[in-house]
Amino acid sequence: MNFRFLGRSGLKVSEISFGNWLTHGSQVEEDAALACVKAALDTGITTFDTADVYAGTKAEAVLGRALKGQRREGYDQNDRGLSRKHIIESIHGSLRRLQTDYVDLYQAHRFDAETPLEETMLAFADIVRQGKALYIGVSEWTAEQITAGAKLARELHVPFVSNQPQYSMLWRVIESKVVPASDAEGMGQIVWSPLAKGVLTGKYQPGQPPPADTRAATKQGAMFMTSFMTDDVLTRVQQLKPLAKEAGLSLAQLSIAWVLQNKSVSSAIIGATRPEQVLDNVKATGVKLDADLLRRIDAIIGPVVERDPGQTSSPDRRP
Ligand SMILES: NC(=O)c1ccc[n+]([C@@H]2O[C@H](COP(=O)([O-])OP(=O)(O)OC[C@H]3O[C@@H](n4cnc5c(N)ncnc54)[C@H](OP(=O)(O)O)[C@@H]3O)[C@@H](O)[C@H]2O)c1
Repeated sequence: MNFRFLGRSGLKVSEISFGNWLTHGSQVEEDAALACVKAALDTGITTFDTADVYAGTKAEAVLGRALKGQRREGYDQNDRGLSRKHIIESIHGSLRRLQTDYVDLYQAHRFDAETPLEETMLAFADIVRQGKALYIGVSEWTAEQITAGAKLARELHVPFVSNQPQYSMLWRVIESKVVPASDAEGMGQIVWSPLAKGVLTGKYQPGQPPPADTRAATKQGAMFMTSFMTDDVLTRVQQLKPLAKEAGLSLAQLSIAWVLQNKSVSSAIIGATRPEQVLDNVKATGVKLDADLLRRIDAIIGPVVERDPGQTSSPDRRP
């Protein structure tokens, strides 16, 4: 089955829809009706048409029985992106799985170039008005996308308050454009991978395989860490260790404290595989790093820092 966008919306419909006027509840028996719907589902049809006037409401009742138990969100075509359908279905699924009635902050993941931003923002606004999320935000949107989203949020009178980008000593791509655009809209950064996925703990040595029981030693983890796992980066990270020691910090604490020196950062999201890591990392809270130390950090790792704002990007099409 092929799928098409419905007009300019982010909703995808199957190219062939199934309708039940004059058939269900009227011309054909229940068994045949159910078999036809099953055949439609088996061929990949996801779009069904019915109406209360068909067979004086009986057609709807037959279709209801035929589709009972089908997972509404189950179709790959609509099960991703920032269409109204996916956003509304997603919040319901998330609240159910999290066993809660509302979340404080609901953030759109990557920008969806295939859905009009108006549709996305209206869906988010409806979720806020229903009390299912109190605030909304985004993740890894460009400065232009943030500015456009903020304009719509203002018109819709909903609190658009955060961006969630990758940010660390080694990955500073948000500094030149995303942060100024967010600041202008009063949005805070909740940053991910402040330890560059573990690299900024200093536990990976240049020229040596990653220690067992580390993310870089796993296939999936290594895939996300290639840009940091070069001898040049790892050598420079080792050179940061004496600076951390001087400041009375572990390198992990220094690295997390570093992102928190940026006033536009509201929170650093840490990951952990062991409780000791959490206990180590949280000691970065409240730490003030002086200007001289920040300069010395930059003198060591400056040449390997990624600063290109073009690294903030979303796919042109839904994956
Ligand atoms: N919005 C998005 O697109 C997005 C994308 C990615 C992540 N995130 C969020 O950000 C969170 C954090 O990302 P992240 O896990 O990459 O953050 P991170 O803090 O940079 O890396 C965490 C990893 O580093 C290692 N580690 C942490 N503390 C350590 C310590 N004190 N000593 C030694 N090793 C230590 C651990 O891995 P090992 O022990 O396995 O080495 C840990 O799992 C994610 O869980 C997710 O919630 C969001």
